[in-house]
Amino acid sequence: MTRRWTPDSWQACEARQLPDYDDKAALAAVTQQLSTQPPLVFAGEARELKRSLGEAGAGRAFLLQAGDCAETFVNFHPDAIRDTFRVILQMAAVLTYASKLPIVKMGRMAGQFAKPRSAPSETHGDVTLPAWRGDSINDIAFTAEARHADPARMLRAHSQSAATLNHLRAMSSGGYANLREVQSWTHAFMNQSPWADRYRALADRIGDALDFMEACGIDPRTQPSLQTVRFFTGHEALLLPYEQAMARADPATGEYFGTSAHFLWVGDRTRFEGSAHIEFLRGIANPIGIKCGPSLAPDTLVALLDTLNPKREAGRITLITRMGSDLIGRHLPPLIAAVAREGHEVTWCSDPMHANVVRTASGLKTRPFDRILTEVKDYFAIHRAEGSFPGGVHVEMTGLDVTECTGGAVAITADGLSDRYHTHCDPRLNAAQSLELAFLVGEMLGQDMRSRASEAA
Ligand code: PEP
Ligand code: CO
Repeated sequence: MTRRWTPDSWQACEARQLPDYDDKAALAAVTQQLSTQPPLVFAGEARELKRSLGEAGAGRAFLLQAGDCAETFVNFHPDAIRDTFRVILQMAAVLTYASKLPIVKMGRMAGQFAKPRSAPSETHGDVTLPAWRGDSINDIAFTAEARHADPARMLRAHSQSAATLNHLRAMSSGGYANLREVQSWTHAFMNQSPWADRYRALADRIGDALDFMEACGIDPRTQPSLQTVRFFTGHEALLLPYEQAMARADPATGEYFGTSAHFLWVGDRTRFEGSAHIEFLRGIANPIGIKCGPSLAPDTLVALLDTLNPKREAGRITLITRMGSDLIGRHLPPLIAAVAREGHEVTWCSDPMHANVVRTASGLKTRPFDRILTEVKDYFAIHRAEGSFPGGVHVEMTGLDVTECTGGAVAITADGLSDRYHTHCDPRLNAAQSLELAFLVGEMLGQDMRSRASEAA
């Protein structure tokens, strides 16, 4: 028999990666205050996303999930939000055109603050302090005071998320996202890329399509459907006291929704059976993601699916696989086979970032563009061989011109990384690398769609 779920039932389960708040009264006061703050998203929006993800699961849409590894308080700026949003729209336009599929656009934005860490503490010289766990928990500065977990930071994360989401909503519906603009930004990028010739053909065809539509009287500057985009948000539901405070019952149905974002996922380190994180996600009706790393056994995955999606609702579960370019061939096929054997409907998504981290000789964390690309290529090939649909990609990127991942057309070398290495957490693709990846994924997805169509004919 299934145990009864309540927003706080996770508290009886094993919770990893959560801060140890020493002032319980302060924690209670903050979560109480948070629970009276407005929800950031509505149930109807989360349901709409679930339907769209169901389409991506069935091969009729494709998910693009992209954004920062960790949002921070210090880098909060409207230009940064705009630039990242702009690159995501450009990536989506390329993918739409190449695949002829609707692209479900989701930012790792407006809530991506809490980070799982590989070690609970950090040592410099003879000083050992708690690890930084994301700005909603503590501060990155290496002092005892900064690293102290302060519940009040959750309120600041909430208000920054609300402001970010407001900006995203304004840009999504206020005309900024008009397709003609998106196309002209992409043209500007192409002129700077050494791979321009390779991409020009595709970009020109997108331009031709817009010209043709305009000649027929469909003008992106005036046509609402070409001016607005549906843009969703998602983050790792790591900080459970925060997520619990944001869980609200939908008055219409009584179902609980996590209202901190449209989509919430469980990380690779906290998705074990019986975990507090799985218990929390079990009871909310949002579409949810599970990060699937090489240590996830097929039987464990099936048990998680039975727990999280007992009604086998399409779009409820997105499996975000992050195996590494060297391990995907060994670990992805058995997961796909197990899901198919059990008749679970899921949406598959590739995160080619998190298992492709290497350290340079000087100790910087980086991700070689080639490894990222290899994991995505293998992801497409494996799904093709297994008869499943590669329903999306998940990338860590920024619209800023950083140097954090090596490679790409404007080849960033290991030595060049220190020029503009700004991430607080994992290395991100910069604007040019993100767009290049979109062109390459677009080619793969377009090819995949054409092969499927010719087989079906
Ligand atoms: C992340 O997405 O930032 C992350 C920590 O991923 P994973 O749980 O897959 O390691
Ligand atoms: Co990350």
